[in-house]
Amino acid sequence: MLFDKPSTRTRSSFSVGVAELGGYPLVIDKSGSQLGRGEPVADTTRVLTRMTSVLVWRTFGQERIEEMAQYATVPVVNALTDSFHPCQVLADFLTIAQMRGGVDALEGMTIAYVGDGANNMANSYLLAGATAGMHVRIAGPNGFLPAANIVEDAKRIAAANGGSIVVTTDARKAVADADCVFTDTWVSMGEEAEYAIRSKPFWPYQVNDELMSLAKPDALFQHCLPAYRGKEVTSSVIDGPQSVVWDEAENRLHAQKALLTWLIGWQREDESLMR
Ligand code: CP
Ligand code: NVA
Repeated sequence: MLFDKPSTRTRSSFSVGVAELGGYPLVIDKSGSQLGRGEPVADTTRVLTRMTSVLVWRTFGQERIEEMAQYATVPVVNALTDSFHPCQVLADFLTIAQMRGGVDALEGMTIAYVGDGANNMANSYLLAGATAGMHVRIAGPNGFLPAANIVEDAKRIAAANGGSIVVTTDARKAVADADCVFTDTWVSMGEEAEYAIRSKPFWPYQVNDELMSLAKPDALFQHCLPAYRGKEVTSSVIDGPQSVVWDEAENRLHAQKALLTWLIGWQREDESLMR
């Protein structure tokens, strides 16, 4: 597990999960590795891939992890990039399944993500929700909406699975009658310098009691965490009865154990798929 950015949940859930599966969770921080001193991604990968069963990386540009996948002979797991956070969405959808009677409940469900519509969580909800046959709505201010190519991909995948995609600047429209409401920080890791310009346009997208009241009466609230109370979500919502954020955080552990088991099982079953 390599971390180029900070982490509490991802680091702990992968470490505990690997140990529970009988493996050794080797965690390497950027500051304590040669990667942080400029060793190429390709060289680092060619070494680590000879000593590990799976590589898990949290980094900045998506192209970095794609380069790792190119050089690795073991599975590579995205533990968050600037563009995607797929492990989080696995846990989030597991949480919905758990609360709503199983994975079959996901298909046809309406989920709304409100806030920074251009960040890694928004992109991951688009693609994962489309894959699960959900109706996915993303709401954010102008300038903070998902890139056209990701929306196009999501629309194509959703159409094949009976789902749909809506991208809007209208938070109320996105949340209306939704089964689950998601938000995330307005300032992602690596964007700290933009703090001043990122606050003002996002206020209409705060998930508060009034916005939450537009969703279905039994709608769930989820947040990948860390949360900033009084910014993207009020205490009344995140600490309120519709919030399932602690189950969501715990489900990182269970979802990732399933993911690792599947990846390693797949690798053993079909050696021809190994590079
Ligand atoms: N949600 C999430 O990935 O949290 P961490 O940044 O603490 O890993
Ligand atoms: N969008 C956030 C997610 C944190 C888990 C970030 O990238 O900082």
